[in-house]
Amino acid sequence: MSNTQLSFEALPKHIAVIMDGNGRWAEAQGKPRVFGHKNGVAAVRKTISSAAKLGIEAVTLFAFSSENWRRPEEEVGVLMELFITVLSTEINKLHKNNLSLRVIGDKTRFSERLQKKIAQAEDKTAANTGMVVNIAANYGGQWDITQAMKKIASEVEEGKLEAAHVNDELIASHLSMSDIPDVDLLIRTGGECRISNFMLWQIAYAELYFTPIYWPEFNEDSLIEAVTWFVNRERRFGCTGNQIKALMENQ
Ligand code: IPE
Ligand code: IPE
Ligand code: MG
Repeated sequence: MSNTQLSFEALPKHIAVIMDGNGRWAEAQGKPRVFGHKNGVAAVRKTISSAAKLGIEAVTLFAFSSENWRRPEEEVGVLMELFITVLSTEINKLHKNNLSLRVIGDKTRFSERLQKKIAQAEDKTAANTGMVVNIAANYGGQWDITQAMKKIASEVEEGKLEAAHVNDELIASHLSMSDIPDVDLLIRTGGECRISNFMLWQIAYAELYFTPIYWPEFNEDSLIEAVTWFVNRERRFGCTGNQIKALMENQ
């Protein structure tokens, strides 16, 4: 294997991450759960920059699920504030690096202020040609399929579409991220082995990678480990973490 050249072709095009374990990470240190959320931001930054260095096309990060509204009001409040702050502080850096930011999910439930911040951030980076960073916020895989079905049903109702023409391609084209390749690698931190209503349709053929480490501890090495696992699993390439690192440096 030593003289076999590992190419970018072997890497996942779209990586999705369920960023879990913030609360347990904080509690393990006797701190409030929100301390974990605040420290999770550094892991978000590291993941985005490492994935960009690897030349990944798209990264989708699960930040807040449709079900997370059920958490204590105070925790939800902190998460929303954090979201607003991070959007403001990070957007210039993303823009400078030619990355485009998109928020997927039902945005209508967010405050006016947050919706405005999101729209500004999306507009500012819309024309960028580098990696796409999708933040899934108030997102649910079931919500995504439902909203696609509603659009299709209205097209049928309006006579623009025949029910007989509904097929999987058409459904896919109405889902979030229809212009981005399906997920190749799904990572979940925090040790749970479930999807928690994250993307459903788009992970049909994804490799699923579960790691026990808590999200605030996730870093460039953790991403390299996951990508190495993916390459070896998917392509049976027998590559090493160092080969992945070398690709990063050659970018
Ligand atoms: C993930 O961490 C972050 C969000 C869901 C916003 P958790 O808050 O779920 O942390 P654990 O799983 O309770 O440790
Ligand atoms: C999934 O984590 C959602 C996010 C990471 C945003 P949760 O902690 O909310 O999921 P469950 O409750 O373990 O299924
Ligand atoms: Mg959790």
